[in-house]
This record gives sequence, structure tokens and C-alpha cells, in this order.
Amino acid sequence: MFVTHLKCMYCGQLFEANDNKYLCDLHQPTATLDVIFDYKKIKQSISRDTLEKRPFHQGISRYRELLPIKELSYDCLDQLNACHIGSTPLIKIFNDNKQQHTVFVKDDTVQPSGSLKDRASIIAILKAKEQNKKIVVVASTGNAAASLSCLSARMGMQSVVYIPKNAPKAKIIQNKIFGSKIKLINGSYNDALYQCINDLDHNDWYNRCTGINPYMTEGKKTVAYEIAEQLNWQVPDYVFVSVGDGSIISGVYKGFYDLFQLSWINCMPKIIGIQAKGSSYLYTAFTNKKNIHDKEAINAQTCADSISSNLPLDRHKAYRAVSNSCGQFVQVNDEQILDSIVEISRQTGIFNEPASAASFAGYKKIKFQIKPKSRIVIIATGSGLKDLENANNALNVLESKNTNLIGVM
Ligand SMILES: Cc1ncc(COP(=O)(O)O)c(C=O)c1O
Repeated sequence: MFVTHLKCMYCGQLFEANDNKYLCDLHQPTATLDVIFDYKKIKQSISRDTLEKRPFHQGISRYRELLPIKELSYDCLDQLNACHIGSTPLIKIFNDNKQQHTVFVKDDTVQPSGSLKDRASIIAILKAKEQNKKIVVVASTGNAAASLSCLSARMGMQSVVYIPKNAPKAKIIQNKIFGSKIKLINGSYNDALYQCINDLDHNDWYNRCTGINPYMTEGKKTVAYEIAEQLNWQVPDYVFVSVGDGSIISGVYKGFYDLFQLSWINCMPKIIGIQAKGSSYLYTAFTNKKNIHDKEAINAQTCADSISSNLPLDRHKAYRAVSNSCGQFVQVNDEQILDSIVEISRQTGIFNEPASAASFAGYKKIKFQIKPKSRIVIIATGSGLKDLENANNALNVLESKNTNLIGVM
């Protein structure tokens, strides 16, 4: 493995990348750790040409030199390939005639558990196996848990998941179906996390919690590798992605950053983070140039449960993703999110849950500020089948407006 160190996102202190290191000694739990790679050594062991010879359908194992996992034994590689994680379609959905934008959707709704989170869960399971841990645990708004449950079933691992009681029904059922041990928490996602961390102290479990485990970003970054490869290494001008805890957007940035360091791409895309108006910690901090190191939580309220976060755990990395890429945060309200669920389904055949639809709503909101002929990628992060209640609410809103919303994006 080509990981050299872990680096505190706040003070920059370097730590040895050992099995038990999750957070900076001085700045836990506020600042997460960044995984630092030796790009020189990576360049000696893989090139774009080598990568292109590996069949695209093999998923994220194709990028093994860039992942934080110890050399994969053939057994493990076969198992990983059998999981079919990654290799998701990049679909050109339309040319927006007025803006002359070319818009692509990276469709991660087709991942095994129906969300992008599978890219991270598999890393957690492989790391748990490296450390001979028998149980992997996560606190989640629902998708990270469903993902861990699904892939644990595939990889012969046990899992324990902490989810708020009021998570969408389908997500809770998904976890039950895959056989995880479920702790339904009477409270928010942040309450679930608190309970999970507490229990982790007393058990020999592997911790998959986003925004604590530094390696989760490193699985999510493979979405950027695929986008770059699918566009023949011509980086898009903008990538739109929804933001809750900030781990997915951090992964998107890290993926493009890795490729840039390896000289496989010649520039970075502008990364646009979309937050729900009722859960806009990062949007507000970025707009008001507020110190994100403070621990002042908000009271998040939005129909998009997956991006509802009182205090985004990966806020340092998310902030870096947007500021270093010259991007921006955008906020959209629940009505815009619900409208987007229907519009995008009817224009593209991709059914998104609210958090995923938020990124489309974000593009729609700022598309007039984006220069003509830009190439845009919108990441669809989670399937609409996970939250039929809000899909139905979206239809009710549509009916109340008495419009068919076709072709209005
Ligand atoms: C479907 C979906 N979209 C977006 C997000 C936001 O990701 P993050 O919390 O890493 O910002 C999540 C997180 O749960 C999700 O499940």
C-alpha cells in the first residue's frame, strides 16, 4: 500500500498510518485526518495505460494501487470483483440549448445497495479483514448502514448499524433484510453517532463511521477516477454533488487531486457542493467566511434525510474541496428538491432520493451563472426507491401546482 501518513486537516500534524489511528490527538473529534499517498511510488507501479488494460466492469479493484488497503491477495481481489462496486454509468443526459452546457449524470444509484456509499463500505470491510475484526459498525442516516449491511452479507462479515428511528422505512427494511444487527435511535443522526461511538469504546469492532474513519473518503474518491476515465481524461468544468457530513464531496475532490498529482489529468474541475436550506452548515460557513473549526451545531430540518446533519463531521475536507477547486456551496429548499425528483426522473429515467435530487436542483439554480459550452457532471448518489414517501410527496406538490414539469430543467 502506498499510504505514507495521516495528516490532521486542522493543524497539519502527521501521524503514522497504523490500524488504530482515526483522529488527531489534539483536534479530535473536530478535525478528520487526510490520507497521504506516495505519488512517486504509485507512478512507478501504475500508469494510465496499465489501468486502461483492466476491464472497466471490474469496478474499484482496478484502482487498487490508489486505495488504502494492503496488497490484495488474489482471493480478496476475486471477492472484491464479485461485489461489483463502481463501474457505474456516466450518462449524457442532454445538451441544455439555452446554456449550451453538456450535462452528464454519474449514476451511482445502480450500486449494489443503491447508493454511492458502497464505494466506502467495501474499504471498511477490507480493512476490518486486514485487522481480523469480525464486526463492522456504523452510525448513519440510513444509506451508509444499508450499504454496510448489503456488502457485509456479500463478504461474509457481521455488522451493527445505528440509525435514527425516523429514517425512511425502505432504508430500515434494507438493513433488516441483509441481516445486520440494528439499533434504532430515538433522535437525530448525530444522536445515533454519539451512541455508536460510546459502544465502540467497549467492543472490539471496526469503525466505519463517516467523518471519523479517514479511509472512507478514499473509497468514495473512485467516483472521480471513473468520471475522468469515462470522459477520456478530459476533466469536466463542474461537478455537482450534494453534501451532508461532507465525506462524498471530499472524496470527489481527493479523486481528482490524486489524478492531478499523477499527471493523468491537467486541471481540476470546480466542485459545487449542494446543501438543503434546512441543513446548510457548510453553505453558511463558506458564504460568511466563518471558522468551521467551532462546534456550534445547527438544528437540521429537511426532507432530504441523507444530507441532514447538525454538524458535518467531514467539514474541513468538504470546505477544502470547494475552496481549493474554486467551486462554491449552493443551498436549495425542500420544494426545489422535491420538484427535481420528478423532473430528473422524467428527463433521464434516473429515480433519485431527495438528497440525490438536491444536486440536480443545485445545477438548475445556478446554471445561468455558468459560462456557455461548459461540461457538467451531476452525481446521482442514491436511488429514489429508498424513500417512496418523499417521492409521493413530490408528486403531490406537482399536482397542487397543476403542471407536468416536462422539459423545464
Ligand atoms: C444519497 C446520498 N447523497 C448524499 C449524501 C451526502 O454525503 P455526505 O454525508 O458524505 O456529505 C448521502 C449521505 O448519507 C447520501 O446517502
